[in-house]
Amino acid sequence: MLVSRHHIILSSLLLTTTLISGEILNRGWWNHTVFYQIYPRSFMDTDNDGVGDLKGITNNLEHFVTSGVGAIWLSPINRSPMVDFGYDISDFKDIDKTFGNLADFERLLARAKILGLKVILDLVPNHTSDEHYWFQQSINRIGKYKDYYIWKDGENGNFFSPPNNWLSVFGGSAWTYNSIRKQWYLHQFHEKQPDLNYAHPDVQEEMREIILFWLRKGVDGFRVDAVPHLFETNYTLDEPESGIEGATKTDYNFLNHILTTDQPQTYNLVQSWRDILDEYAHRYNTSEKVMMTEAYTTLNNTIKYYNYGSHIPFNFNFITTATHTSDAAAFKNIIENWMKAIPEGKVANWVMGNHDRSRIASRYPGRADQMTMLAMILPGVAVTYYGEEIGMVDNMDISWEKTKDPQGCKAGKGKYQSRSRDPARTPFQWNYLLNAGFSNAKETWLPIHENYLYINLNVEKYEPIEKSHYKVYCALTALRNTSEALKFGSLTTDVVNKTVLYVLRKTKEEAVTLLINFSDQDKQEVDLTRVLAGFKNGVVKVASVNSQLAQNQTFELKNITVPAKVSIVLHTFFSNASAEYVASLQTILLSLSFLIIMLYK
Ligand code: NOJ
Repeated sequence: MLVSRHHIILSSLLLTTTLISGEILNRGWWNHTVFYQIYPRSFMDTDNDGVGDLKGITNNLEHFVTSGVGAIWLSPINRSPMVDFGYDISDFKDIDKTFGNLADFERLLARAKILGLKVILDLVPNHTSDEHYWFQQSINRIGKYKDYYIWKDGENGNFFSPPNNWLSVFGGSAWTYNSIRKQWYLHQFHEKQPDLNYAHPDVQEEMREIILFWLRKGVDGFRVDAVPHLFETNYTLDEPESGIEGATKTDYNFLNHILTTDQPQTYNLVQSWRDILDEYAHRYNTSEKVMMTEAYTTLNNTIKYYNYGSHIPFNFNFITTATHTSDAAAFKNIIENWMKAIPEGKVANWVMGNHDRSRIASRYPGRADQMTMLAMILPGVAVTYYGEEIGMVDNMDISWEKTKDPQGCKAGKGKYQSRSRDPARTPFQWNYLLNAGFSNAKETWLPIHENYLYINLNVEKYEPIEKSHYKVYCALTALRNTSEALKFGSLTTDVVNKTVLYVLRKTKEEAVTLLINFSDQDKQEVDLTRVLAGFKNGVVKVASVNSQLAQNQTFELKNITVPAKVSIVLHTFFSNASAEYVASLQTILLSLSFLIIMLYK
């Protein structure tokens, strides 16, 4: 065969382009996935120091497979002095020795890959630890590091007062004076977490390198921390007071954070990180790399992240807007507002808890299953915080002396209980053995909740009890992973009998209906014949642990009893018989009207 020179050049050009820029594979793998947040310090301890580690996670990856989880997100594992338990990073490209080392992480990744689990890392771009090399150089104004952080002179004679009234999220001034550099540096969180200066191109470049470093290791994406805090403006101005009742002068919510959060440049920066993920996946022909963003802000500002690269701008409304006193109508609004707000073609997500907030079982006493059901039945991504699958509750018995969280410590002895995040971070309860099976250490870093004897994975999974939070969780993920209606079905939400919220997911052939009775006293009889016309009787797929309903119990759609405080998930299919019946009725009516018309003529 004769091959022209031209032909060869063209083919090699094509080959090079294919090698350099392949396809992003498996786009959208994440859009119906259950993401599970692991707080590594509290998951499983294998070296008996009382703190969880990477080996502990690797040894237990099967837990996620059997629980129907598709991706795990690890709170920070990088080298850190642990002032904010990993959110103060002193080396972004290494693993903290508490958790193991890079080889341990590589083993974790390899095992996860075998099991088909995706691994997401926490990316903490807003700040570093004050022990980070960059900060140490910056203090001494060395080379390019000089402006890596936000340094300003103080007001009224530098040393005496900070540049302005800005407050840190953890309380107190957001400025700390450094006596070597003789300037104040900004820290929107702890004083040992200086804010990086994103106006500096080299800082942006450093973060790019960090992202690439972990992508090369094979991670599947990032959860990006504290996004609204990335930029500030007008460093000489004060922020106005919020007027929030009860807020003292040092409380973060004493001010309206108009200069320190949600600045317009934030969005392009987020987009630039998404571009890195896409370019990488494209270039190396990998699965799509996913970006989740953490932003406590208004609905509009959160939604905007969808248009600037975030696949999953965390939807915190079940944490921040709903409370245990919200009724069915309030829940319906929260769901509909989010669904209306998200741009066409984007994927919804539902976050129920995390390491910064009280656990769902504590926030919604006796209603934890209802929240898990919502996360699993609503369309899109469901995010689970470790321990939610077994109904762990906050450990409120942590004394002031044992409090570790800087936010709690800064609040002081009188107020620490309302500010500390420790209660939601206690070790995972595996079984009823020593330290709930978490560790063989004498003491664990945070005390185990004393309810571990009956709230633990082992009991909930293996004991011959009919219902447990874990069984509810698994039944939900199993349904979610097999039901077409949950994957692709339409969504309808409504309130019936004033106290029952229904969430209906439906295709032509299949319907999954979640019914939540918000009344604590009265049972309700619900009639779904109108919304599910033509469908067969409903089968109870999942019922909350506080109900007497048995799995697979059948209900006539006309008459579904939902006991007080109970939530149930019904599964039903379109009935061909009733379809045929409706069709033949239609034919009869049509022929009759035809006959009448003929007779009339
Ligand atoms: C948000 C994290 O979720 C929180 O735990 C941390 O304290 C702050 N960002 C600071 O990194």
